[in-house]
Amino acid sequence: MAVQINPSILSADFARLADEAEAVRGADFLHVDVMDNHFVPNLTLGVPVVESLARATDTPLDCHLMIEDPDRWAPQYVEAGASSVTFHVEAAAAPVRLAREIRAKGARASMALKPATPIEPFEDLLPELDMLLIMTVEPGFGGQAFLDIMLPKIRRTRELINKHGLELWLQVDGGVSASTIERCADAGADVFVAGSAVYGAQDPAEAVRALRAQAEAATAKASWACDH
Ligand code: DX5
Ligand code: ZN
Repeated sequence: MAVQINPSILSADFARLADEAEAVRGADFLHVDVMDNHFVPNLTLGVPVVESLARATDTPLDCHLMIEDPDRWAPQYVEAGASSVTFHVEAAAAPVRLAREIRAKGARASMALKPATPIEPFEDLLPELDMLLIMTVEPGFGGQAFLDIMLPKIRRTRELINKHGLELWLQVDGGVSASTIERCADAGADVFVAGSAVYGAQDPAEAVRALRAQAEAATAKASWACDH
């Protein structure tokens, strides 16, 4: 699968979301961080904003739900126009049922792991998912430092994906920048969320292109992506 770059609008100007979406034309998805001030200590936006943003841009929306009770709320984000919906496994009561419901409603189903949540207990569940998100910071805020200690988890997850021959995308989110994206790609990530590294740049579209070029070059050299 080709490298994908998903700018996080958490670092954009919330008063100008349509313009900020346009500023990263060429991105694969817009990453939309939904926070409820319970699952994480921060509050961002909800279904009405996602509905408006979906109408305002052609770029598909990748909604990352950092909320409690995603079993109840996630389907509404599909109805609001999200192309991909990510719930946290730590918050989901029935992750398999929820992933199936998201898919049945027509979106890609994705599951996120906080830094302290291991991948191994979820090996049998991976075929139910279209994407797995490995958080590389504690969820809640943009602009945090990348956690290097997540690299072995990314590597082990890529091994599981290859072992089972899955089409699962492997996303990383948190502290992804020009100085960390190559290590993520080398470890096995293929979908990269970047907030401050894109919207903090002079030219956000150029930042997306540069990150993509770095990730593509690192993937081409990575052992996990070789045919042999
Ligand atoms: C953090 C969010 C991230 C955040 C990343 O909880 O899930 O998507 O926007 O921001 P950066 O790229 O600045 O770490
Ligand atoms: Zn996110």
